[in-house]
Amino acid sequence: MLKRGKKTPLPPGKYRMGGKHFKNDKAFIKTAVGDVQRLEKYCGLNTSSSLLDWGCGAGRLAVGVSEHFGQIRDYHGVDIQAELIDWANENLAGPGFRFTHVNVSNERYNPDGSPERTLATDPGTVDVFYAYSVFSHMNDEDTQAYLKLIEESLSTHGRAFMTCFVEEDVAGWEENPEGYGPLDWKGRLHCTRFARWHFEDHVNAARLAVDRFEYGQETDGQSLYVLRKR
Ligand SMILES: C[S@@+](CC[C@H](N)C(=O)[O-])C[C@H]1O[C@@H](n2cnc3c(N)ncnc32)[C@H](O)[C@@H]1O
Repeated sequence: MLKRGKKTPLPPGKYRMGGKHFKNDKAFIKTAVGDVQRLEKYCGLNTSSSLLDWGCGAGRLAVGVSEHFGQIRDYHGVDIQAELIDWANENLAGPGFRFTHVNVSNERYNPDGSPERTLATDPGTVDVFYAYSVFSHMNDEDTQAYLKLIEESLSTHGRAFMTCFVEEDVAGWEENPEGYGPLDWKGRLHCTRFARWHFEDHVNAARLAVDRFEYGQETDGQSLYVLRKR
């Protein structure tokens, strides 16, 4: 269980990723629990699972796991922003909940990080992989490479749940597409958008298959993919 008295600690506003969507405490918890319920339904998440929350920020999903299950075998949050992982380690880590900082580069969140990509996990060990609004801020080369690492990380019946911007008739990969979505995109990798065929080519090249696709219902109009090993 998470270190808590009556309530699970919630990250302060400045540590909440996802813009206006997660600022309000009630909405923050609701989205987290909702995602855990979807992981249960679509990916078979249960109390015996190992769950990798890649790009976990300050641990929004950990709050959902705590509220919904109390504890699972292994919740592992990984992120490249040291300050957020420090907060999560101080406030959310405990039996069944751990967080790892990796100093890996991303042009938006950690431009001076190392080009050496890692998911900070062993091959074949992840039952449920979760990446919410992570591929929405990622260059094309990293996307392709990380999908391969995700495939390696999954256990035999593992599933990967992820969100990203995909559209049918657009360029393969584009950064901050003008006039697209609800925001005025600013700065590196604020919004990265894929053509659906292009993203799914990467999925295939990584020896993954699409288990579920839901168009445009996630934060700011992202789509949902659930992937499995081929
Ligand atoms: C928009 S935030 C989403 C945070 C969280 N998934 C949520 O839904 O609340 C994107 C997160 O991905 C992290 N990130 C980006 N590239 C990463 C990488 N290569 N490895 C791990 N985390 C990464 C960022 O640091 C940031 O915390």
